[in-house]
Amino acid sequence: DEALVIRASLLEWYDRNQRDLPWRRISSNGGDGDEDEDGSERRAYAVWVSEVMLQQTRVQTVIDYSTVGCGNGPPFVTSPALLSRFCFLIEVNEMWAGLGYYRRARFLLEEGQGIGDYTAGAIASIAFKEPVPVVDGNVIRVVARLKAIAANPKESATIKNFWKLAGQLVDPSRPGDFNQALMELGATVCTPLNPTCAACPLSAYCSALSLSKHGSVAVTDYP
Ligand code: ADE
Repeated sequence: DEALVIRASLLEWYDRNQRDLPWRRISSNGGDGDEDEDGSERRAYAVWVSEVMLQQTRVQTVIDYSTVGCGNGPPFVTSPALLSRFCFLIEVNEMWAGLGYYRRARFLLEEGQGIGDYTAGAIASIAFKEPVPVVDGNVIRVVARLKAIAANPKESATIKNFWKLAGQLVDPSRPGDFNQALMELGATVCTPLNPTCAACPLSAYCSALSLSKHGSVAVTDYP
């Protein structure tokens, strides 16, 4: 089954190439996410806040900001108690001044309501190891190329289809790593322009790459 080799290749690549992101030390640390109440809650908050910070913001910028803030740690190194200290729009916006996209602080404040499909998928898969997908622009591009899907990625029916396809791909034993690997592959290898297919762990399974070798399409014709 092709999903099996795709998972194995992608996770092997991720294990060798994943970036050392500060919040990953919290979100991947310890336990299976179920038994240890404190551990999984702590991870959930770390994933939540880091993913909100990552929205529309480059990873490097978030890394730079991760060391800003309140005395005993980065703003997203957080227990619920610590987070409640941050849950004042002004405080959060002051801490993140310069980061841009100021609506994100409000999203944090609004808690449940501010958690959309993307953030819910990230928390469920990374912090709680549930085998659910996470779909952002990077994931859409990787999956569109993998499956040679030329549909408009801005249409809601198309996006829905990508959630379905990503859900079929996600690795049930390492869902958080798998989802982050797809995002990271899209950000570093399977880029919008000039993707480095020679360095891609999925090149052997990529329909867009295969079509580009035989005909008139280019990998970059897919979103
Ligand atoms: N972009 C947004 N969230 C990310 C994550 N958890 N890992 C890699 N890239 C990301």
